[in-house]
Amino acid sequence: MKIITTITELQQNIRKDKQKGETIGFVPTMGFLHEGHQSLIKKARGDHAKVIVSIFVNPLQFGPNEDFESYPRDRDRDAAAAEEAGADYMFCPTVEEMYGSESVVKATAEKRTDVLCGKRRPGHFDGVVTVLTKLFNITTPDTVYFGKKDAQQVAIVDALVRDFNFPIKISAVDTVREEDGLAKSSRNVYLLKQEREEAKELYQGLLLAREAIERGERQPERIIKIIKEHIETTTSGEIDYIEIYQYPELTSLETLSGTILVALAVKFQKARLIDNLILSI
Ligand code: PAJ
Repeated sequence: MKIITTITELQQNIRKDKQKGETIGFVPTMGFLHEGHQSLIKKARGDHAKVIVSIFVNPLQFGPNEDFESYPRDRDRDAAAAEEAGADYMFCPTVEEMYGSESVVKATAEKRTDVLCGKRRPGHFDGVVTVLTKLFNITTPDTVYFGKKDAQQVAIVDALVRDFNFPIKISAVDTVREEDGLAKSSRNVYLLKQEREEAKELYQGLLLAREAIERGERQPERIIKIIKEHIETTTSGEIDYIEIYQYPELTSLETLSGTILVALAVKFQKARLIDNLILSI
């Protein structure tokens, strides 16, 4: 695996690969790789001749009071994890390399952002679509891989690819979980011991919701109440949101039907965790 820090060097490599007729799978990440990221890399490995993983903690998508500075970083560990999963290139540019000259144009997500994390993190998805526009242009992949754990991100990237006519296929990959059901996340390292115990209840709450839906419940408020009561009684976390929308449109619904997203965010002392289920009714 080659570790590359400059845009020019990555582009030179990609040009040579493409001349040989090789296809490219791309996995954008912010690093501190875990098995969730690795499942995206492995999927890309199975689909394409060359696999690029980017590691870039993108300052544009962090709010002023968020964890940009303290976001966990470990280049050596990431290199080992990316290589183990089958990456050919690990692209880890500096902030200077990505945003060096004063930028004049930025991308904005106009819809699908006024709910869920977009509502609580103003500007977050503008930062995401801006960095992804740059990364898509730099890496020119055939397929780009995203995790369903960030379901709103997938819905917005779907729209980015469609609206800006990127000739790229999006592959959405199932959430990888710890044995007790907690969704793997780079931020899980910030959970206190007791919180780590409690954190499995987020997924348990989602499973209770799924059971209720399977029993025939179709009222979103009733489903939300089931999850809320479960999380309030089993964790010390503060519920940021529990919401249900049509997916991928992220429009609200009065009765559950079609493809829906049941999503939640819970704040623990040093980590805010998100999880969701996408269900077809
Ligand atoms: P990051 O949080 O590092 O996540 C990179 C990719 O890994 C995302 O597509 C995310 O959904 C996926 N992922 C994270 N945890 C996962 C899990 N438990 N199972 C499956 N996939 C998982 O998302 C970002 O970075 C950034 O916003 C980025 C797209 C790189 C733009 O900066």
